[in-house]
Amino acid sequence: MTADGTTNDELFERGQRVIPGGVNSPVRAFRSVGGVPYFVVSGRGATVTDVEGTTFFDLVQSYGAVVAGHAHPRVVEAVRSAAAEGTSFGAPTPREVQLAEAICERVPSVEKVRMVSSGTEATMSAIRVARGATGRPKVLKFAGNYHGHSDGLLVSGGTAMASLGLPASAGVTENAVADTVVAPYNVVPVLDDSYAAVIVEPCAANMGLVPPAEGFLEGLRAECDRVGALLVFDEVITGFRVARGGAQQRTGVRPDLSAFGKVIGGGLPVGAFGGRADVMDELAPLGPVYQAGTLSGNPLATAAGLAVLDLLDDDAYALMESRAECLAGAFARAFADAGIAVQVPRFGTLVGLFFGDVAPHDYTSACTTDEARYATFFHALLDRRVAIAPGAYEAMFPGLAHDDEVLAAIAEAAHGAAADLAATA
Ligand SMILES: Cc1ncc(COP(=O)(O)O)c(C=O)c1O
Repeated sequence: MTADGTTNDELFERGQRVIPGGVNSPVRAFRSVGGVPYFVVSGRGATVTDVEGTTFFDLVQSYGAVVAGHAHPRVVEAVRSAAAEGTSFGAPTPREVQLAEAICERVPSVEKVRMVSSGTEATMSAIRVARGATGRPKVLKFAGNYHGHSDGLLVSGGTAMASLGLPASAGVTENAVADTVVAPYNVVPVLDDSYAAVIVEPCAANMGLVPPAEGFLEGLRAECDRVGALLVFDEVITGFRVARGGAQQRTGVRPDLSAFGKVIGGGLPVGAFGGRADVMDELAPLGPVYQAGTLSGNPLATAAGLAVLDLLDDDAYALMESRAECLAGAFARAFADAGIAVQVPRFGTLVGLFFGDVAPHDYTSACTTDEARYATFFHALLDRRVAIAPGAYEAMFPGLAHDDEVLAAIAEAAHGAAADLAATA
């Protein structure tokens, strides 16, 4: 409990009176796992502490926005000193240039980049510039890939939409998605010259974790080239997380445009999109594609982003990958010992959890995960002070703060929680 004795129950009740569902993003409401969300007052490294004083090992890590652990001293200091100099100016600042240079240096396909304030803005703007540059209307997305909540991309979106059983969102008109074509993940579609772009999560992480099948991304590259469409990688989750140069470095497939977010904001509201200079130069003020933002390139966010990127050298990625491997192994062993069929896919530093016999390869197979079992396991784990996402279609985000000691504690909790699940089955 906080000093004034506030509880999670009380805050949730108060929140629901003034915030729809009591939360500012649907998955946080615990709808698909049941129960009351924990209200976090602070985080430190691999842990978060709620208003009742309970501390959890945290594998959510702000759904991937935090990679170095909560309240990393270097990030805190960067934000603190940036704030002392002013929080927003509406004029360019040196750190925007530095962050753009840092992104372009790490991701060679990005020749020019523009900062925005969320992943949603990044993908939305990437699509707009792709349409502007090609003069074509259609965009192809894959079922179960989530690209944020802009109207044109909000169809078959995975993540909380999957948990809530929503194929699309009310409030999005047919016209808004008339030029959006949805295709199955991991199958190379046949395009024609009406397509401006194909947008893809190079490793799907919003329908659980579904890595790209061999040849899928290469096939997309070739098909886009065949018809002159642009290939857009949504690296909002994978960017700067699965490798220094993101999923495109791991897979060796070079997109025309990329969208980023999460990691490059160090936990502050950030996104970015970038790619081929000739395409990016279509943006105002150079070209006719309008895109803007009062808080874009915000001084606090760029300070946090630079501080985080500075921590992520080759050793850091190697360390995170070995930890992800260790985490995946621990979960797999826990369920094997309990005699429960699960798949624990891993893509570099990202780990998934799927309740079923065969690893999913697309949205249809991903949706066969046993959500009821996930919910039971989620609570058994939370009772043991380990927090995974309160939704079966999210990934786990081990990072720099999940050291051996933390991983051992998580492994022990997973073992107990899987045994509990076996006992209730
Ligand atoms: C792959 C992907 N793209 C885009 C987004 C949207 O980012 P944001 O929530 O910052 O708007 C998300 C968010 O989870 C995401 O996972």
